[in-house]
Amino acid sequence: MPNTRFIEPALTRDLRSIVLRPGRPIEECTYPEDAAPGAFHLGSFSGDRIVGIASFSREHIEGTHNAYRLRGMAVDPAFQGKGIGTHIMAFAFEHLLLLGCDVLWCNARTSAAGFYAALGFEIFSEEFDIPGVGPHYKMKRHL
Ligand SMILES: CC(C)(COP(=O)(O)OP(=O)(O)OC[C@H]1O[C@@H](n2cnc3c(N)ncnc32)[C@H](O)[C@@H]1OP(=O)(O)O)[C@@H](O)C(=O)NCCC(=O)NCCS
Repeated sequence: MPNTRFIEPALTRDLRSIVLRPGRPIEECTYPEDAAPGAFHLGSFSGDRIVGIASFSREHIEGTHNAYRLRGMAVDPAFQGKGIGTHIMAFAFEHLLLLGCDVLWCNARTSAAGFYAALGFEIFSEEFDIPGVGPHYKMKRHL
């Protein structure tokens, strides 16, 4: 089983670049929310190799009182489909409950919507395009 733990934001850069922004400037792999108060970052490790990441920060959406946003969910292509993404999210749900979070939401790539649906997320927007990245839905999960 992978070993999931809290990591510093800088440790997310390489996987963000390889999995989410291939061929794009590395500056795109730093998000303004990374250092926001209350933000946290998770990494999943196989030995000392980081194989999965996800980042969380407080960001309000309507109808919530303590919503968090998930960004930068990525698993190393060589390790996808082995339960690592699910493991990271299970760790996150536990921690978010401790933080009193009521809703976790994200802009989900349409290609990954099935992953989020399997974790209990539901779609709450029309499909929309993020230029240079592709089609997305807004998805949320109550905790
Ligand atoms: C999407 C991603 C994070 C999932 O992580 P993962 O470790 O590969 O997923 P898991 O192995 O935990 O899969 C959990 C379940 O979701 C399903 N699933 C995984 N990726 C999926 C996808 N892209 N579409 C539909 N279902 C998917 C799996 O089949 C599995 O279902 P099962 O338990 O019935 O077999 C990973 O594949 C990834 O990094 N993809 C490329 C980047 C990306 O799209 N990130 C999301 C940006 S919004």
